Amino acid sequence: MRKRNIALIGFMGVGKSMVSAQLGQRLHIPVVSTDELIEQREGRSIAEIFRNAGEPYFRRVEKEVVMAALQQEPVIIDCGGGVVLNPDNMECLKQNATVIYLSASPEFLHKNLTGHQGKRPLLDVPDPLTKIKELLQQREAYYQQADIVLDTNGKSIDQICEDVFTRILPSL
Ligand code: S3P
Repeated sequence: MRKRNIALIGFMGVGKSMVSAQLGQRLHIPVVSTDELIEQREGRSIAEIFRNAGEPYFRRVEKEVVMAALQQEPVIIDCGGGVVLNPDNMECLKQNATVIYLSASPEFLHKNLTGHQGKRPLLDVPDPLTKIKELLQQREAYYQQADIVLDTNGKSIDQICEDVFTRILPSL
């Protein structure tokens, strides 16, 4: 069965939001961001949620918004980097969307993230590169459950979008 939804997964800083926005424009499909949905629902920033309610609470809200995002179709879902940690999220996403993993090396991610730690409390540490390596190692197997894996190392957002197109076009 053809899936009309697209879910972009991958580590913080890989460019999911920019790629989602461009895909949405080209395909005329609405884009939703799980992070934005969480902030709207909670009326506070991701950093505040982590600080005042903790990560487990954030993950519970994240699961609710993943399910809510899948209520509309077609939709492109820009998933927060940790969405894959909950197996229910992955199962639902895979059932209802073509899941695309934008993969990148820790060094490439670190470069992209420099100066953009605001909504990434997990990387608000003295040595973000080491933290990125640790988290990537923990998550890589989950990310690899995607339907499509794209290597984005050294690529611009335009190039990544072209790669996504080439891969998903046959199934659109
Ligand atoms: C997180 C990624 C962030 C945001 C939160 C936690 C993670 O989203 O959901 O800071 O655990 O990887 P982006 O991947 O959009 O930065």
